[in-house]
Amino acid sequence: MDRETTNLQHFLIEKQREHPEATGEFTSLFAEILLASKIISREVRKAGLVEILGLTGKINVQGEEVKKLDEYSLQVFVRVLQRGGSLCVMASEETEDIIRIPDKYPKGKYVLVFDPLDGSSNIEANVSIGTIFGIYKRRSEDECGHDGNYEDVLQPAKNLVAAGYVIYGSSTMFVYTTGQGVHGFTMDPSVGEFLLSHENIQTPKRGKIYSVNEGNYNSWSEGIRKYIDYIKSDKNKNGKPYKSRYIGSLVADFHRNLLYGGIFLYPRDKKAKNGKLRLLYEAGPLAMIVQQAGGYASNGVKNILDIEPTEIHQRTPLFIGSKEDVLEVEEFIKKYGDEV
Ligand code: AHG
Ligand code: MN
Ligand code: MN
Repeated sequence: MDRETTNLQHFLIEKQREHPEATGEFTSLFAEILLASKIISREVRKAGLVEILGLTGKINVQGEEVKKLDEYSLQVFVRVLQRGGSLCVMASEETEDIIRIPDKYPKGKYVLVFDPLDGSSNIEANVSIGTIFGIYKRRSEDECGHDGNYEDVLQPAKNLVAAGYVIYGSSTMFVYTTGQGVHGFTMDPSVGEFLLSHENIQTPKRGKIYSVNEGNYNSWSEGIRKYIDYIKSDKNKNGKPYKSRYIGSLVADFHRNLLYGGIFLYPRDKKAKNGKLRLLYEAGPLAMIVQQAGGYASNGVKNILDIEPTEIHQRTPLFIGSKEDVLEVEEFIKKYGDEV
């Protein structure tokens, strides 16, 4: 496709033409997500300049300090998306309960799950951060908004109809899938649009990079310790040690590994018995993206896409990236166990 003149909306509209049954509701939902991410991107860009930086002093439902930009990003998403008419309900990292659409707005058939700002511990250091989102169709048959809609939100990632992330890095990028490949767009600030830059991203079957917080080594299971020792040795399938790369922003670590090939790991450890990352709005959407790019995401035992969530903020161990690498970590866990 003609990259120089193809923005995200054009691209989506062309893709939608292949589905004459599409109502346009989805395209308008995407336009709203785009607007929200452009506004967040603008704030991230000036984070060092204005008083937006710093702590609110509040603690979020995960027991972590909430930085002002996390809260701002949440509010932008909610304000833009609640009034668009395409959503039935939302859930986010920064809100304990599901987010219902106020009665004064029309409701639609889609459900949005999102991490408004991922990697927020990196904000002050001017290191890449991101937003992750996933879109489901609502499950409930009855009128949206009546009985809480937990069943709409608590769906396995294999039910996602779309997933994506925005990365606020040296450029702002928007990467998404609707189940027809993974496509990346880069913000051109001079036109104020996301232009097509990475059509149909495919990730290498085997990578050369591993990304993990190795400070947790002594708290990991034997299976994970043995796996990491193995990929650092010259006994692994590449015949030489993998490179270590860890930013501490899931979106940024994932994005780099998606393009270059590699594995990101956040295993369970003695402190975090179920891992740290959240199934619904971190692991799930990225699992759909990686699968569309030819990679794989696992909790060490099974495909992330198949896990039925029971809680909004449920955590999961996460192994994600190049398929052969993730399958190999599963083998180590099978052989040596994952007890912590
Ligand atoms: P968030 O900023 O949304 O809370 O997510 C932080 C996550 C994720 O982005 C990153 O991969 C991970 O935390 C890093 O954790 P450690 O500091 O334990 O390595
Ligand atoms: Mn996060
Ligand atoms: Mn977050």
